[in-house]
Amino acid sequence: MTTMVKTKARALRAAKTEALTAPVLPVNRILKGDCIDIMRTLPDASIDMIFADPPYNLQLGGDLARPDGSHVDAVTNDWDKFTSFATYDKFTREWLGEARRLLKPDGSIWVIGSYHNIFRVGAILQDLGFWILNDIVWRKANPMPNFKGTRFTNAHETLIWASKSEKSKYTFNYRAMKTLNDEL
Ligand SMILES: C[S@@+](CC[C@H](N)C(=O)[O-])C[C@H]1O[C@@H](n2cnc3c(N)ncnc32)[C@H](O)[C@@H]1O
Repeated sequence: MTTMVKTKARALRAAKTEALTAPVLPVNRILKGDCIDIMRTLPDASIDMIFADPPYNLQLGGDLARPDGSHVDAVTNDWDKFTSFATYDKFTREWLGEARRLLKPDGSIWVIGSYHNIFRVGAILQDLGFWILNDIVWRKANPMPNFKGTRFTNAHETLIWASKSEKSKYTFNYRAMKTLNDEL
């Protein structure tokens, strides 16, 4: 009997310590820093929905110019420079892996990208166990023209919407969206 009481007391103490040391999800705060480092500090299965606009890995070789010679202000920041597809994939696998750990079982994720990266993102999402629900096209009414006339103008970006797993009972507010869009 005494042993049982002691065991119970020990278990209670352990549970209290765990509760005090477990990571807590900060709400209504912007957390600044490397996304992977920050996500690692957050608790498992604590988030309902993630929206991500990650680096596109545009792989710009040199300066872009318009036919009149003026400079095109493209994304040339260091955060969009990856030495290879393998490096980009490693980064993508790491942040998506953390994102999946943070999602609740019925949670879902949105990732936006362009033809430069979205196919890689899609494959990695599937490899990690996410379940792709839709790809949604953001059509651009005023896209950057293809100045050289060597390819089609790229006039859209793609959003992938995926649930944490095939079994997730994700949220889809169909009725509310129909109402907000005049029943279209
Ligand atoms: C495609 S842009 C998205 C811009 C964003 N939608 C906005 O309107 O500001 C990618 C963003 O990811 C940020 N970024 C890149 N690598 C990151 C990392 N490892 N951790 C956190 N943010 C990162 C960049 O600074 C950049 O702002």
